Amino acid sequence: MAIQTAPLPLPASADPSKFAEFGREVLNVDPGNLSPEEFAEVEKLLYKHSALLFRNADLTPEQQYALTKAFDPAAETYGHGNNKTGNTKSSILHPDLKTIPRQPQVQLIGNGMVYNHEGLEEAKLKHPSHTNFHKTRVSPEDEEKGVTRFYRWHIDAALYDLSPPKVTTLYGIKVPVGPKQTCRYDDGTGDEFEVPLGTTAFVSGKTMFEILPPELKSLAVRSKVKYSPHPYVWMAPAHAKSTGLGIETEGLEMPLGELPPWEESKVKVLPILWKNPITGDLHFQVHPCGVSELFVDPLPTNAQREGALYPDGAHLTDLGQVRELLYKMQRPAIAPKLVYPHDWHEKDLVVFYNRGVLHSVVGAFKPEQVRAFHQCNLAASDDPTGPTAEDVKQWA
Ligand SMILES: [Fe+2]
Repeated sequence: MAIQTAPLPLPASADPSKFAEFGREVLNVDPGNLSPEEFAEVEKLLYKHSALLFRNADLTPEQQYALTKAFDPAAETYGHGNNKTGNTKSSILHPDLKTIPRQPQVQLIGNGMVYNHEGLEEAKLKHPSHTNFHKTRVSPEDEEKGVTRFYRWHIDAALYDLSPPKVTTLYGIKVPVGPKQTCRYDDGTGDEFEVPLGTTAFVSGKTMFEILPPELKSLAVRSKVKYSPHPYVWMAPAHAKSTGLGIETEGLEMPLGELPPWEESKVKVLPILWKNPITGDLHFQVHPCGVSELFVDPLPTNAQREGALYPDGAHLTDLGQVRELLYKMQRPAIAPKLVYPHDWHEKDLVVFYNRGVLHSVVGAFKPEQVRAFHQCNLAASDDPTGPTAEDVKQWA
């Protein structure tokens, strides 16, 4: 029997024409016990639609690990390494992740106190909030009224040494109910929209590329970004923009010499556009907070030079300039009409194509609002591939 699917329910803020292909609810299968045939179908659906929702899922940490691994059978370690954030507590991710002892690739994330949970006697969880990451913050008075922000737009990936996971699975176990909040951009555009409390916001990397004007498509298809060594340690002292889409350039990043030991050979240089292995689509996949440099290839011969940016190629090392260019390319895609804010219910399992979307934590909880999620992703067995020669010819 073919697997049945339904479109994801879109909020009024979303433009349905931009979500025709994005996201599906998968209706008649048990994600913890997929047959090989069912899995093959689910895998195809995921690459095609970028995010799949299974409602009322029952999933042990072992089943969640097995499901996640099925998308990349050679992958074994958690996306940031099994000791979570590498060899240091100074990583900005350190407080957010608690490992399930018997299945260390599965993390317990959320908010508030959780007791006797899957072998963890007691876990104190804290939903990350923009208030200690952004340069500016929503005033406490506005927060009281339910105003909030995106925390950090990202891809789940260590971006140093390990390859970006293909898939992330997020399973909602305890979901506090509360009034909707207003997610405000605070970037002078007036953009804001209503979000469910504690939503996870997704945008499509495919759309991010598709809506660019020709000169930025040409730049994207010819460019690679270089990430800092240990990017989450590097960025920890810095402050993010009010949209959560990258870092303000204030010179606060940790100097390379003060980072934990690192090797140039483990530094990640990745194409801006990642090729979807099933659909062939190009997804704009950059974790803007971690980028330090940009490499641009020259235009191919016969390409039109008029209006082209960096027609002879470039190596940009000015952090401010690199960030400005990336922001110009990425900001349009996080407009309210292009964001899917998932409205979590208990036992929702969301499986997303981590190489095809960007996502962000949103919102703020009070300490007594207990939220418990299991998250799993695995450092991939290979790096993503970029545009083909044909793609470059088409878009450069
Ligand atoms: Fe994430």
